[in-house]
Amino acid sequence: MNQDTASQTLALPVGVTLDRYIIRKQSAFPFATGELSQLLRDIALAGKIINREINRAGLIDVTGAYGANNIQGECQQKLDVIANIRFIRALKNGGEVCAIISEEDEEIIFTGNDNAKYVVAMDPLDGSSNIDVNVSIGTIFSIYRRVSPIGSRATLEDFMQGGRKQVAAGYILYGSSTMLVYTTGHGVSGFTYDHSLGEFFLSHTQLVSPDNGSIYSCNDGNYNQYSVTIRDYLDSCRQRGYTGRYIGSLVGDFHRNLIKGGVYLYPPIPKAPSGKLRLMYECYPLAFIAEQAGGRASDGYRDILDIDPKSLHQRTPIYIGSRQMVEELTANH
Ligand code: AHG
Ligand code: MN
Ligand code: MN
Repeated sequence: MNQDTASQTLALPVGVTLDRYIIRKQSAFPFATGELSQLLRDIALAGKIINREINRAGLIDVTGAYGANNIQGECQQKLDVIANIRFIRALKNGGEVCAIISEEDEEIIFTGNDNAKYVVAMDPLDGSSNIDVNVSIGTIFSIYRRVSPIGSRATLEDFMQGGRKQVAAGYILYGSSTMLVYTTGHGVSGFTYDHSLGEFFLSHTQLVSPDNGSIYSCNDGNYNQYSVTIRDYLDSCRQRGYTGRYIGSLVGDFHRNLIKGGVYLYPPIPKAPSGKLRLMYECYPLAFIAEQAGGRASDGYRDILDIDPKSLHQRTPIYIGSRQMVEELTANH
């Protein structure tokens, strides 16, 4: 494919369906076999199913606590459990994934598809505290090409590759409209779901993070527990008349700041000395998207994508969003 055809293929118009977009993108890469494309479509399907469950949540007794804690010791909501089951089922049936890690499961989930090339790390439902109150929630995913031999059982090493080895990452935001945003390392595209047609349509051809912004997003109730550096930064935001916005759903907070310009922070606090958010299925995927959109993501000392993974459910502090804001916030760490 010559250069002109490739760029035409990549520049698709608003309104094209996600399926067509994925196929057209794939055709720009001569050796692509279609498995990643199929996997992205499987994730979109799982997103549609979860979206359906969320939309009728108030009607079918799926709000509220499930009655168990997940491996993080956090109270599982019924929708956490449902979303987890739906996602795992969609990925198993799709056949492109040999193993999954999920916020809701302590151990690696083997799909039985040992011939598949990919592994997925996911937060099936992000922002669970917002489920019962009808506020935006999300799903986050991260995809790696396995390093263990195809045909064998997946291994821990398949997941412990580091953020820079992600081949794709994205999120689904179940908000005032439902959106799927993803990257395969060639910029960030956004798709909006049309309920009546059951399709995602390209709505944001190239999401670019404003280089600077005036929104800061953190749990203000933790202010007194933050370090002096963080408190100074927040004080200066207030003095500059910035806007404080915090949904408490990382996906929603991240997405707003990506569109409008802003920074999201979850620093270490005494009850969460390594931060609260999870590296593999919250921070790596959003950091990949932030960087691809021209933004930044840091743990205060290095880029999130450069953190060495040590365990499946490890946590990290995170400062993510508009480049200049992340740089200012982390300059004095
Ligand atoms: P999850 O619902 O997947 O456990 O994630 C919740 C996370 C994140 O979405 C949000 O930004 C953060 O927890 C909110 O934490 P606080 O309630 O401590 O502010
Ligand atoms: Mn989460
Ligand atoms: Mn979750």
